[in-house]
This record gives sequence, C-alpha cells and structure tokens, in this order.
Amino acid sequence: MNKRSVRDLDVRGKRVLVRVDFNVPIRDGRVVDDARIERALPTIRYLLERGARPALISHLGRPKGEPDPECTMDPVAIRLEELLGVPVLKLDTAVGREVEEALAAFSEGIVLLENSRFYPGEMKNDPEFSEQLASPFDLYVDDAFGVAHRAHATTVGVAKLLPAAAGLLMEEELDYLDRIRLHPERPFVAILGGAKVSDKLGIMQSMLELADALLIGGAMCFTFFKAKGLETGNSLVEEDYLEEAKHLMSEAGEKLVLPVDLVAAEMMEEGAPSKLVGVEEFPPGLMGLDIGPETVEEFKSYISRAKTIFWNGPMGVFEVDAFAKGTEGVARAVAESEALSVGGGGDLVAAVRKLGLEDEMSFISTGGGASLEYVEGRELPGVAVLPDKERSWMARRPLMAANWKMNKVVREAEVYVTHLLPRISDAEELDVAIFAPFTCLHAVARMTQDTPVLAGAQDFYYEDSGAYTGEVSAPMLKDIGAGAVIVGHSERREIFGETDEMVARKTARAVSAGLLPVVCVGEKGAERDAGRMWERVSGQVRAAFEYLDAGGIRGGAIVFAYEPVWAIGTGEVASPEDAQDAIGKIRGLLEELGGGSFAEEVRILYGGSIKVGNIGEIMAQKDVDGGLVGGASLEAGSFAELVNGARAVIE
Ligand code: PGA
Repeated sequence: MNKRSVRDLDVRGKRVLVRVDFNVPIRDGRVVDDARIERALPTIRYLLERGARPALISHLGRPKGEPDPECTMDPVAIRLEELLGVPVLKLDTAVGREVEEALAAFSEGIVLLENSRFYPGEMKNDPEFSEQLASPFDLYVDDAFGVAHRAHATTVGVAKLLPAAAGLLMEEELDYLDRIRLHPERPFVAILGGAKVSDKLGIMQSMLELADALLIGGAMCFTFFKAKGLETGNSLVEEDYLEEAKHLMSEAGEKLVLPVDLVAAEMMEEGAPSKLVGVEEFPPGLMGLDIGPETVEEFKSYISRAKTIFWNGPMGVFEVDAFAKGTEGVARAVAESEALSVGGGGDLVAAVRKLGLEDEMSFISTGGGASLEYVEGRELPGVAVLPDKERSWMARRPLMAANWKMNKVVREAEVYVTHLLPRISDAEELDVAIFAPFTCLHAVARMTQDTPVLAGAQDFYYEDSGAYTGEVSAPMLKDIGAGAVIVGHSERREIFGETDEMVARKTARAVSAGLLPVVCVGEKGAERDAGRMWERVSGQVRAAFEYLDAGGIRGGAIVFAYEPVWAIGTGEVASPEDAQDAIGKIRGLLEELGGGSFAEEVRILYGGSIKVGNIGEIMAQKDVDGGLVGGASLEAGSFAELVNGARAVIE
C-alpha cells in the first residue's frame, strides 16, 4: 500500500478524527452483529496506546439527513465500551463546541460522535459541513474501507482539510486487495455468486482479464443459461442483460465456468420439495436455488489448484438450509486450500460466518461494493483522497543502511541505537536504516519509532503464515514496526541457496506489504574475471521483477544494492568509476523495465567494504544513492561517521 498510514503519523497528544464503519445491524436497541466494530479495534487501540485523543465517527442505517432515534449510535457505544474495555463518551452531536469540549475534558477513553447521516451535508460532501467536522481535530484517520467508494463529507471532505492517513484496517484491506489486483499468484480463481449479473458486470469483465478461471454460481447463472437458449423455469433472469451475458460468454471462452447441475424447487422455503437437475433439463415451473453436488466437485477441482482466490457472493439461497449446500461445499474447499483467499460482500461474509469458516480464509473484506470496485481497478474516492506515503524514500534521497548481519544481542542493539541517534540527529538530507537480526529488530523498531531511522529485517519469507518452520513473514515484520527488508543478500544466495525465483517472490511480497525491499545484486569474482559481470547483474535485476510490474509501482517502493560479491567483507572495494558504471547500467535497465520516471526514483546503493576512507568518493558518483554497510556499521560511532561522511558529499 502506497498510502500514508496512521503508523506514519506522530499522534501523541493529537486530536484524531477516525472514520470507522460501524454500520452494524441493530435490533431492539442492541447490536446484533459486532463484527465491524471488532475490525476497527486495532486502530483505536493503536491510537490510545500512543497517547492520541481519538473521536470516532460513522454512519448507521439510512436516516434522511436529520436525527432519527432508530439510527442513533447509542447501542454502538455500549457494545464498543464492552469490547474495548475503556470508557466511551457518546455525544449526541457530530460537530460543534460540544465536540471540542469533550475532547478537552475527556482523557481516559474515547469519544464516539453521533451518526454522520443525521446531517444533510454528509452524503452531499458539503464543504461547510466538512469544515465543521474537521475544526476540532488535528488529524484524520480513515478506517472505513466499506464506505470508501462513497464521496461523503466524512470519507472525502474532511480528508482534504486535515493531515490524513489510512487506519490499520484500511491498510490491511488495501494490502490484500492489491495482491489480488496487482500481482496475483497463479492459478488465480475468481468465484462470483449472488442474484444479479447487472451488479457484477464490471468485476466479471476485469476478472476475465485478471483471473485464470471465473466460477459462476448463485441466481446470476440463469441469465447466462437463458442467454444460451436453455430452459430456466421460474428462476431469476435479468432479461435486460441477456446480450451482455452472451457477449461475456463469447469473450471468456473456457475461462467462464458455469454450473452443470442445480437444486430446483417451487418455493424458496425450508421443506419445499426440491430436486436435483442437470442444466440441460431444467423443469419449467421450478426455480433454481442452489448449485448441485456435481458443480461443487467441478468447482473444487479449480479451487484446489488455485494459488489465489477471490470470492464474492454466495452460490445459492444459503439462508435456507436446504439451499445452502452449494455455498457450504465451495466454502469448505476454499477453507482447505493453501491459496491466498479473499472474500467480500455482506451475504458471503454472513454465509462464511454461519459455517464458522471465517478464520479459514486469508482475509475477509469489510467492503462489499467497495472491494468489488477496488479489485475492478476503479478509483475509490475515499482511498484516492488519502495522501501517498510521503516518507522521503519517495524521492531519490540518499540512504545509508547498516547491515548488522548475525551480530548483536538485544542489549547491544539498544546501546547502539542510543549512541547513534544523537550523532546523526541533524542528518536531515538523507535516510538512515538499520537492518538488525530478528531477535533485536523489535527493540530497534521501538527505539527508532518517531525518529528518521528506519528499522529493517535482513530477510523474510514471502508466505504470510503456515508450516514454514524458522521463517518470519511480511505481516510479522510490519507487526513489530519494521519498514524495510533486505532481499537476496549474496550471503543468503551463496550460503543458504536462495534463488532468483525466491528473491523475486520476496521482492513482490515486500512491495505489496508496504515494506521497502533492498534487493541485492552483484557478481562473483570469477564472473567478473570472465567478463560476465553485467550478464550476471542484469539477470538478477530482471529476475527480481518476475512477480512485480516495474511500470505498475513507484520507483520509491524499491531499492537496489549493487554489491560485488568479491568486495563484501574483503576490504577490496570497487573503484568509484566501476561502482558508477555498474549502477548507471542498472538504472538504464530499470528504465527499460519500468520507464524513465520509475528508473529516476529507484535508489541504488553500493555495498562492499564501505568505510570512512572511501565513502566520499563513492557517494560522489552520480547514480550512487547511498551505501549498504556491513563491517563498518557494527559500531555506532563509525556508522555515524559514515552517515555524516555521505552527508558532507550531498551538501
Ligand atoms: P561489508 O558488507 O560492508 O562488510 O562489505 C556489506 C554487505 O554485506 O551488505
């Protein structure tokens, strides 16, 4: 995710307006399903733990721009307080002096504002109402992915008036959905269900391009069957969309997989006599209410082979047990699969929860319409309005990185950071990163939080979780506050057998997770001597983009380090001219792969026996954007000297 995150903000002591999606079902004054409240808790806790003063705002139900007692946030306040375990001060307003006073006086918990749709300005994205909303606050955090496709005052208007960032849930949503949209691992299977073809035209079109197979269930299949000239009985058919359905089928060819058998009944009721029929012999007078077992088997064969699954919409009328088996069969197959599986849409979420399988999927989006639109590639106003990450690495700011390799225990790391920070505190022209061993990374991340120093890992594994003994994933690194990771260091390639293929997967995963990868490339001495330096290095650079479209990402999202293997830890350093020559060529190749502006933004470091005596001449080369330093980074004093040496050249 390229958007600025709440993690990028300094929130201490700040009054933060948080847009959440607490549009939950209420019955008799009680919240009957609190899933959406639960999903917002991490951001709320994050803010509270860091000493912010958050106030939450959401819409609830469909009040008509004026107060409506049916839609008050009161029941939400009660449930939120139970879940959060801190006092919730619910106000009867969303704007005005009362909000300011509450924020000033109430410090031991959280403020919950009244339903945003009690105000006519909300859905009109009225500038004056947005001003009123923004005025008591210092910052705005958007955690309401479910309404990101709406340009309302609380999703767009205020975001333009205050420093804005994505909340943790929003960040997670975009992260998962980007993996579906931008770099799905193949085979990629999309499963679409629900009643209407008309709701899903956009997503079907884009899935035909993106996915390897598109499995269709739910009543929407009958519009396709009718378009094929088959009998559909009393099943739901969208007569106005028969042409679109025909068109889609002819475009899709084998990719579009329709049911082969169906459960048909006279009525959509429990106990209604039903029968199993083949699609070719659908009985007039009955309606189709679920996919049949043969279809489930067929769908399973696709699902079990998939590496990525996107599912929206149930396969049948799952609310009635007799017609829930199709959805259940498919849900179990998805649950059993090893693929990255992302589901979305209110009905599907309800179905999966009813089956108790929600934890078996990789991610359940809180957005139905929003997740479809986002995956379709449409711009969501609530996402578009959030500023991009503005960390300095978005431009080509020099970067000096310490690679501690397998050195230092926690105590030593702490002493190091304590010594380093004051020594580099006025080095504002460049970025500094520390790549620490896993065991002390948490301490380094904690101590460098709110400082310009970036904490990074020396390696990770590209899967998110599972049976990978000894490994650590991107979400785990993010969880402890790491912002970067070294990928494909020559020691990992040489000693641990890391291949170009693994480097490529790690690079793509780091980028999609919002971790800055420092991808290492470099030739061995024998390769240099045989005149094969560029063959080797260009091969490694190209290979790193196997799962990543250079044209589709910002140059600031990736760093390369040219580290000739013969120079690492040997005291033998590439001449400044040779370093420039190799790095200049790498930039040329990046231009070929991702275009000129991409290549101009990618930082390329030199690494290999950097020390105080040579940093100046290396940094003076036009394409060299910094250094990856091993041996000379192990002492805080000498690394600080290198940082300041690099800085002197820039100045
Ligand atoms: P070195 O290590 O500075 O000790 O040569 C560089 C690296 O491995 O990144």
